[in-house]
Amino acid sequence: MKGLYEALHRDHQRLDDVFESLLNQMHAGDAEAARETWVRFERELLGHMEAEEAELLPVLDRFDPEEAGTIRAEHLRIRALLAEMGVAIELHTLREERVEAFVRALRQHAAHEEAGLYPWADKELPKPAAERVHGRLAAALDAVKRTAPRPSPGPSPGSP
Ligand SMILES: [Fe+2]
Ligand SMILES: [Fe+2]
Repeated sequence: MKGLYEALHRDHQRLDDVFESLLNQMHAGDAEAARETWVRFERELLGHMEAEEAELLPVLDRFDPEEAGTIRAEHLRIRALLAEMGVAIELHTLREERVEAFVRALRQHAAHEEAGLYPWADKELPKPAAERVHGRLAAALDAVKRTAPRPSPGPSPGSP
């Protein structure tokens, strides 16, 4: 279904933007805002992966089960890193190296999907499944708008 690649790619960019705000808030020392952004980021990334697992991977299983398995394995690793990061944020022990490893894993995974899974889905995914993906992404965006985050103050020059 036309537009599926674009919609999924845009969702990756949106998640990247949320993560960027999180990093800015952490650097600015705004722990409370960072915690809120983290909760939102985690929920939205899990929602994105669940949509892929529910609608894309079962169809890909029939075309290229090995590739579907690779993507599931990457999701598993991202979920493990997410859980570790969540604990570290809670305990205020999040280290820069862990954040960087996480961003690397996430970007590699996004590039992997955008080179294979998404172009394939754009052409091959049956219309009902493609419509459900569009529906899930639109619902996630609506939820974001309903719970609009308070504007980030950004890094302040005098903060430690
Ligand atoms: Fe994914
Ligand atoms: Fe994705």
